[in-house]
Amino acid sequence: MMKTAQQLDTADELLMYREEFLYPMQPNGEPYIYLCGNSLGLQPRNAKKYIMEELEDWEKFGVEGHFEARHPWLPYHEFVAEPLARLVGGKPDEVVAMNSLTVNLHLLMASFYRPTKKRYKIVIEGHAFPSDQYAVASQARFHGQHLGDLADPILEIFPSEGRSYVRTEDFVQFLEQHKDEVALVLIGGVNYLNGQFFDLPEICKKTHDIGAVFGVDLAHAAGNVVLKLHDWQVDFASWCSYKYLNSGPGGISGIFVHEKHHGLTEIPRFEGWWGHNKSTRFKMPSEFVPIDTAEAWQLSNPPIFQLAALRASLEIFDRATMPRLRKKSEQLTTFLWEHLQTLPKGFATIFTPEDVARRGSQLSLKIKDANREMVGALRHDGIICDFREPDIIRVAPAPLYNSFTDCALFVEGLKKYANG
Ligand SMILES: Cc1ncc(COP(=O)(O)O)c(C=O)c1O
Repeated sequence: MMKTAQQLDTADELLMYREEFLYPMQPNGEPYIYLCGNSLGLQPRNAKKYIMEELEDWEKFGVEGHFEARHPWLPYHEFVAEPLARLVGGKPDEVVAMNSLTVNLHLLMASFYRPTKKRYKIVIEGHAFPSDQYAVASQARFHGQHLGDLADPILEIFPSEGRSYVRTEDFVQFLEQHKDEVALVLIGGVNYLNGQFFDLPEICKKTHDIGAVFGVDLAHAAGNVVLKLHDWQVDFASWCSYKYLNSGPGGISGIFVHEKHHGLTEIPRFEGWWGHNKSTRFKMPSEFVPIDTAEAWQLSNPPIFQLAALRASLEIFDRATMPRLRKKSEQLTTFLWEHLQTLPKGFATIFTPEDVARRGSQLSLKIKDANREMVGALRHDGIICDFREPDIIRVAPAPLYNSFTDCALFVEGLKKYANG
C-alpha cells in the first residue's frame, strides 16, 4: 500500500500545493497528518502576510485605509467575488462574502421562505447539521406567529430501508409525494455526516416543478466539489469558508443569489446600509435602495482581516482549479476506500456513497467499539481526524494538502488500533 501511495504521489501534479500550507506539529517536530479539512482547513502560508498588510495599512492610514490601503477596504469584498463565483459556478454579481453561515441562512430564508397556510413545509435531509435544523425550525415557528399554527412544518428525508444515503430517485419521489405542501427545500450540498454529494441539479429541477424554492447549505461542498449554481438554477446558497476554503476559524461566509431574483422589489429582505446603492450610500439617505445584485443582501461593512485570510486561500484555488482538485479528491477517496477493505472484517463500515460522483472528499466510518480515545490514539501516532458521537470517524483528504501517503498512513494507524 505504501509503495503504491508513493507512486501516486510522484505522479500527482498538485503535490506542490502542499507547500502552500502550514501544518500543526507533533511533539517530535514532525508535521501531523491532517485529515480534518472538512472541519477546519489548514492555514495558507500567505494568510498571515495578507492580514499583516492590513494591520500595517491600518497603522499607516487610519480611516483613509478605506481608499489608500494597498487593497482599499471600501471595495475589499469585491476582490473575492470573482474567485468565489468560479468556485460555486455563479456569476460575480450572484455571490458576496458576508457574515457567518447560519446568519446568512436566516437572512436568505427571510427572503426565500414565503410560507402560506397551505404551502409552508421545509424539506431538509435527515441528519442535517444541527444548526440548519434549528434554523429551519425557528423560521417555521417565526412565520407561524403570523400564519397560525404550522403543523409539522419540517419534512426530513432519510435513506430508504437498508441504505445509508438518499438515492436521487427517492428524493424526487418524496418531493412528488409532498408536492402541494412544500415551500422550500434546503439541504446540505454535501451532507456533513455521511459525505453524500446530493444530485443538486436533479433535486433543484424537481423542487421547481412542484412550485417550491431551492436553497443549499454548501458548508461541506464549497471548495470540495464542482458546483454550477447558476446553470442549475439554484435559488440561493450559503457556505462557510473555514473548512475546505481554509480561511481560518470563524472565517467569513459567502452567499449566492441567482440573478433571476435580483432587482425585484417584491422580495422581502432585512436591510442594512452595505446593501444600499453604492453611488448614494454615503449621502446617508433614509430610504433604502438595494444594490441590484446579491450585494443587496449585505447588512454591514465586512471584516477585512477575515477577507484577507480568504484571499490567500482563494488565490491557491485559482491556480490549482476545481476540476483538477476534484479529480485528485476522487482518486484520494477511492484509494482510501480500497485500502480500508484490508482492515479486519467488521471493524469499520463505510457509510459514504460508494459512487465516487455522489461523495465529496470525505469517507465516514462507523467503527466497532469506537470512542474518543481512539482518535486520541491516532493523534498520538501523528494523525488528526474527526470523531462524532457515538462511533463515527470522518476522514477528509483535502486534495490541496493531502497525499496518497497520508491516506495510507491513516489506514495503517487504524489497522494498528484494530489489531489491538
Ligand atoms: C453543514 C453546516 N451547516 C452549518 C454550520 C454552522 O456554521 P456557522 O457556525 O459558521 O454558522 C456548519 C458548521 O460546521 C455546517 O457544517
